[in-house]
Amino acid sequence: MNKTLKLLINRASCRTFTKKKVSPAALASLFEAGIHAPTGGNLQPYSIIKIEKAAATARLAKLCGQSFLKKAPLHLIFCIDFHRLKRWAKLQEAPFSAERALRPFWIAFQDTIICAQSICTAADALGLGSVYIGPIFDRISAIREMCRLPKGVIPVVSLAMGYPSIFPGQRKKLGPGIVVHNEVYRDIPAAQLLSAFDEKYKDARKEITAKDLKSFYGAVSAVHGRKFAQKCVTGVKARKYFNKAQVYFGLHYRADKMLFSTPKHFKMLSRAGLACFDTGK
Ligand SMILES: Cc1cc2nc3c(=O)[nH]c(=O)nc-3n(C[C@H](O)[C@H](O)[C@H](O)COP(=O)(O)O)c2cc1C
Repeated sequence: MNKTLKLLINRASCRTFTKKKVSPAALASLFEAGIHAPTGGNLQPYSIIKIEKAAATARLAKLCGQSFLKKAPLHLIFCIDFHRLKRWAKLQEAPFSAERALRPFWIAFQDTIICAQSICTAADALGLGSVYIGPIFDRISAIREMCRLPKGVIPVVSLAMGYPSIFPGQRKKLGPGIVVHNEVYRDIPAAQLLSAFDEKYKDARKEITAKDLKSFYGAVSAVHGRKFAQKCVTGVKARKYFNKAQVYFGLHYRADKMLFSTPKHFKMLSRAGLACFDTGK
């Protein structure tokens, strides 16, 4: 198989690392790959904060609530950066409103992630392992303070990286037959949808505990009302386990918490300098 295709198809997130540092030469190659990623208007509205020191690594691990991060020798925090563009515009006597408008945010968010993914793939090509770390979003203020990010520089996601100590196993995925649509979107029949997810999450069942059941009922009733919550709970009890969708949306990424924390998130993004999220509240 083509080498690049093999790399892309065989990749997996890595969460165990040796103590070996990422060399300056490897770092330079990673960053070179990152800056050549596609970016809207070739504007590169992103910055990357490189973290290697033990104290900062430990702080990051604590903020993200994932202790394995302490063992990764390198962390790259990918940030949207409107600050640099705003300064450039001012110095060049040009108008600038990107931090106050939704469209530039939409593009800059994509630019930032695309740059991160080019670096992620480059890392795989160099025999490094990496894993994205999402909870950066819940800690934007603390990370802004820790990395002294000016207004308009917003951390989006982090990539923990190093040489794998155990080669990670591949995760199952929904296949092209499910995620690709020919010309127009089509809803696959419910039975096919269920079997595709069953195949992906084989035997992913979670035992019932009183605490989880209460938490699950709380999540469902807050979003869809008590009647549906009762129906869901009755189903869980009859089946004697939580299925994967219930674990994901009712216990792990709780639908109610996601929904009701949105105003707080808008406020946080607005405070970080993205005035386009200022709802006036
Ligand atoms: C935006 C994003 C955030 C993620 N956050 C975390 C995280 O906080 N901790 C973690 O261990 N893995 C995290 N991951 C890795 C996913 O769990 C992983 O990609 C997924 O389980 C699929 O496995 P694979 O990457 O090996 O194919 C994240 C991935 C993405 C793309």
